[in-house]
Amino acid sequence: MPIEPTILLVDDDERLRRAAGKVLAAAGYRVVNASSGREALAALREHPVALAIFDLRLPDVDGIALLQQARQLRPDIEVVMITGHGSVEKAVEAMRLGAYDFVEKPVDSTALLKVVGKALERQKLSRDNKRLRRELDQGRGLEALMGDSPSMQAVKVLIRQAAPTDVNVLIQGESGTGKELVADALHSLSGRSDGPLVKISCAAIPETLLESELFGHERGAFTDAAAAKPGKFELADGGTLLLDEIAEMSPSLQAKLLRVLQDGRFQRLGGTKELQVDVRLLAATHADIPQALAEGKFRSDLYYRINTLQISLPALRDRREDIPLLAGHFLSRSAAAMSKPIRTIGPRALDQLLAHSWPGNVRELEHVIQRAVVLAPGDAITSFTFAPATAIAAERAPPIGPHLSLPIGSTMDEATKRLVQATVEQCGGNKLKAAQILGIPPRTMYRHFADLKP
Ligand SMILES: Nc1ncnc2c1ncn2[C@@H]1O[C@H](COP(=O)(O)OP(=O)(O)OP(=O)(O)O)[C@@H](O)[C@H]1O
Ligand SMILES: [Mg+2]
Repeated sequence: MPIEPTILLVDDDERLRRAAGKVLAAAGYRVVNASSGREALAALREHPVALAIFDLRLPDVDGIALLQQARQLRPDIEVVMITGHGSVEKAVEAMRLGAYDFVEKPVDSTALLKVVGKALERQKLSRDNKRLRRELDQGRGLEALMGDSPSMQAVKVLIRQAAPTDVNVLIQGESGTGKELVADALHSLSGRSDGPLVKISCAAIPETLLESELFGHERGAFTDAAAAKPGKFELADGGTLLLDEIAEMSPSLQAKLLRVLQDGRFQRLGGTKELQVDVRLLAATHADIPQALAEGKFRSDLYYRINTLQISLPALRDRREDIPLLAGHFLSRSAAAMSKPIRTIGPRALDQLLAHSWPGNVRELEHVIQRAVVLAPGDAITSFTFAPATAIAAERAPPIGPHLSLPIGSTMDEATKRLVQATVEQCGGNKLKAAQILGIPPRTMYRHFADLKP
């Protein structure tokens, strides 16, 4: 913004323009003149107008209509109306539509300067407010992603650079390294932060279901489609869509996704209408995609489309200097949540954290601290216990699976059996993992399964 605010003065009375212009220029403002609505709109396009002074009655346009057009061109412009005798009612209507105030003819220079000064002050306040809010949001977006190690600092620089653009970002990193937090930050630091952030995991959802989840379906598109349903692409319109575990997507769905990314259009399943949405795509994976490419499991054309920019998250074992900071953060959070007076981690316990290999990365650290907070008797943690690596894999949040439909009239027994069976199938036959997802002891699980066993 220029140092001296630009004021647009619109009146068909040249004498008034000259007199008012002189007063404003003397007060240090830059003044642009217009004698009609048409000239005013041209000036608004051309100059960085901060405030406009409109005569309510102009030869070619009504002052109110001009006010509305001006606000479309420059949303945060302030407007002061000049009213002739007996048009105060109209000036009040203009104020309802966002004009700051009005001055009556004959224009008194002191009154004019006072109104202009106040209007510009309000504008500055509202700009400052917006800026502060943005800064606050920025803090929020990146603060959640803790770590000052050089590799995390580099990740944050990339996030700041990528967020305001619309480029597709592939977020890569081992399980528990914070990929979802990166997606959150990319969205909240972007111009789309007022829009939705929609997330879907491509893992553990059968292909046809994932397709309808992504693109939606019309009523009757398949047996269970009792009602039409919008897909995640539609729900993310105007915002961001995170495709999590993208490497798990089947080849045929990869082809369909590629088509959508190429022309931005798609149809709901069973639909005929072409839909077009404005979505920024983020993808995340813990898999090594170059290897999947080499093995022919992932399409290279899709890879290049989603990988305009890649953000790779370092494993926790490769940035051990962040462990004390993260541990302290999780400790105070868990202690507060459980109302326990634990404040410190003893030196031996901290050495344990620094020496551990962290296969589950930050998520594992968070869980290790939580467990220790539950078990610690005093006000300090003196030692940690680590879960076996197999359990760490199971600690990951369970993916949202396909839905199960049950006929009303089923008994609880039948319903339980079907849910157990479906969950075990979903877990690739791993009953222990299924029991964990279902929240039941493995023993109960085997009992449910007893009559299904050969
Ligand atoms: N840098 C970090 N600072 C603070 N918390 C973090 C950080 N990284 C991860 N976490 C926490 O660890 C947990 C796992 O993070 P997140 O879900 O983003 O991981 P992920 O990479 O998506 O893992 P997965 O591949 O298993 O889905 C979350 O509770 C998250 O808040
Ligand atoms: Mg994740």
